[in-house]
Amino acid sequence: MIKIAPSILAADFANLERDIRKVHSADYLHVDVMDGLFVPNISIGIPVVQSIRKVTDMILDVHLMIDRPVRYVERFCQAGADIVTVHVEADSEENTRRALDIIREQGKKAGVVLKPKTPAEAVLPFLEVCGMVLVMTVEPGFGGQKFMEDMMPKLRQIRAWITERGLDCELEVDGGVDPVTCKTVIENGANVLVAGSSVYKAENIPARIQELRG
Ligand code: DX5
Ligand code: ZN
Repeated sequence: MIKIAPSILAADFANLERDIRKVHSADYLHVDVMDGLFVPNISIGIPVVQSIRKVTDMILDVHLMIDRPVRYVERFCQAGADIVTVHVEADSEENTRRALDIIREQGKKAGVVLKPKTPAEAVLPFLEVCGMVLVMTVEPGFGGQKFMEDMMPKLRQIRAWITERGLDCELEVDGGVDPVTCKTVIENGANVLVAGSSVYKAENIPARIQELRG
């Protein structure tokens, strides 16, 4: 089954509860955390995740675009995240492994994220302990960018490793997913699709969420 994870980066932050309710028919709620260091933008942090947790029972998929996430993963788990993903580019292999361990010890799903220029092989040291791998199909930092079709070989490669090894690991894509590109990413092995602008700009949001399932 294809899962849709609307990104609240495209929501109205002054009306966040209202905008979260609009996407209730989706599977996960994608929360983009940016620190102005790892990416050239600043979004939201731990107190906002805590507040979101109080107003929704949706599964919170927290995408940490922050430098050295090992410093903060425990606090994001305690704030109410259900899935926490960290970028492999954000720290050493040892610290990334430690971050994944902390997330798992908190009883949450842990995952790694790859920026567009990072090769598929970068997931290999972590694949066995990941419940999620996220392949960026735009440069992280901003919503509303153009989908990078050239990420499809990377997606296929990671799907092949997950299948070959019989792993219980979801494969997510993030960036530029719309009613056309959703078909491409599904064909190439993604099973969780993040979508910001294409969901929140739609006239009929529940219909758009359904359409993105392919
Ligand atoms: C980008 C974020 C995305 C963003 C996607 O750094 O990780 O989650 O919200 O936005 P769209 O779907 O508009 O490309
Ligand atoms: Zn994201």
